[in-house]
Amino acid sequence: MILALETSCDDTSVALVDMTGAILFHRSLSQISLHAPFGGVVPELASRTHALHLPQLVADAFKETGRGLSDLTAVALTIGPGLSGGLLSAIAYLKGLCFFSRLPIIPVHHVRAHLRVAVGSVEEIPHGALGLVVSGGHSHLYGLSAWPKLELLARTVDDAAGEAFDKGAKALGLPYPGGPEIERLASLYEGEVNRLVKNIQTPLPFDMSFSGLKTAFVSLVSREGKDPSRRPYLAATCQEAIISHIVDRLGKALRHYRPPALLVGGGVAANGAFRKALESLCGEMGVSLFVAPRPLCGDNAVMVALMGLEIFRSGQFSSFPYDEIAPRPR
Ligand code: KG4
Ligand code: ZN
Repeated sequence: MILALETSCDDTSVALVDMTGAILFHRSLSQISLHAPFGGVVPELASRTHALHLPQLVADAFKETGRGLSDLTAVALTIGPGLSGGLLSAIAYLKGLCFFSRLPIIPVHHVRAHLRVAVGSVEEIPHGALGLVVSGGHSHLYGLSAWPKLELLARTVDDAAGEAFDKGAKALGLPYPGGPEIERLASLYEGEVNRLVKNIQTPLPFDMSFSGLKTAFVSLVSREGKDPSRRPYLAATCQEAIISHIVDRLGKALRHYRPPALLVGGGVAANGAFRKALESLCGEMGVSLFVAPRPLCGDNAVMVALMGLEIFRSGQFSSFPYDEIAPRPR
C-alpha cells in the first residue's frame, strides 16, 4: 500500500491506496472556516493546523482499514508548489514516521497530481496531449508529451482562475472559497449576463488575464447596489466572464497545437458550467477530453497517491535519510 499526504494549501488530506491504485481510505479536513475571517489562507495558521491534523488522519486511516505501518510499501507527499510551512509540516511528519521503518518516500509535484487524476491510467495520455490546471494558484496550460514532465505553454499573467472566482465572491460578500458559492448563486439565474470585458489583452496569445475582469466586476457590483434579487445575475455574470475567457484562450491554443486530447484538473474544474463549456469546445474541435472527477478536482491526497504510485513504479523515490525530500514552494 501507499500512504499519501497533501498539505500544500488549506486542506489536510490523507489517502491509502493499494498497489493497483484502488482507494482504501481517503479523508480531508478543510481549514476553510479557520481562514474565512481573514478572507484568505493565513500560511502560519495553515501549517500549524496541518501539523495537528496529520497524525489524527493517519491514525484514522490505519484504524478504519485495519492496516498499519508494516503494511506500507512506500509513502508519498506533495513537496510543491504550495505554501512552504504546510509542505514542511508533512515532510517533518513523514520523515519522523519513517525513521524506524525506513520506508521509501516519494516526492510528488502538486500540478502533475492534479492532471494525473483526469485519466484512469497514464497510458491513456496520448502523445501530444495538452493539460490545463485551473485552481486557486494556477491557470496554466501544459504540453504533456514528456509526461511526467510538464512543458509550460501558457499561463495567467496575473490572478489564477480560482482567485478570480474568490475575488468575485468577495465583491458579492460571499465566503471563501468563492467558486462553489458563485456557482450555486449563478445556477439560480436564467437569462442574459453582462459581457464584462470584450477584449482582454495579454502579451502572448494563449495566456490568460483575470485582473481586468475583476475590476470590471467590482464596479458592476457597486453600480448594481445591494438589491438581493440581482445577486444571481451578478454571480452568473462573474462565472460566465471567467469561463468564457479560459475557453477563448484554450480554443486558440487547441487550434494552434491540434492536440489529440486535453486533460483538465484543479478546483475550478469542479464547476459544472465550465465542464459543459469544455465538452462543447472539445466536441467542436475533435479533441478527446479528460476532466478529473468532481470530488478529485480540488486538493486531495488521492491524486498524490496515484501520482506517487506511478513515480514509485518508475523507481524514483528517496531512501533514508531522505535528503532530497525538501519543500519546493515555487
Ligand atoms: O485545486 P484547489 O482546491 O487548490 C489549489 O491548488 O489552489 O483549488 C481551489 C480553487 C479556489 O479558488 C476555489 O474557489 C475554486 O478552486 N473552486 C471553484 C469551484 N470549486 C472550487 N471555482 C469555480 N467553481 C467551483 N465549483
Ligand atoms: Zn491544487
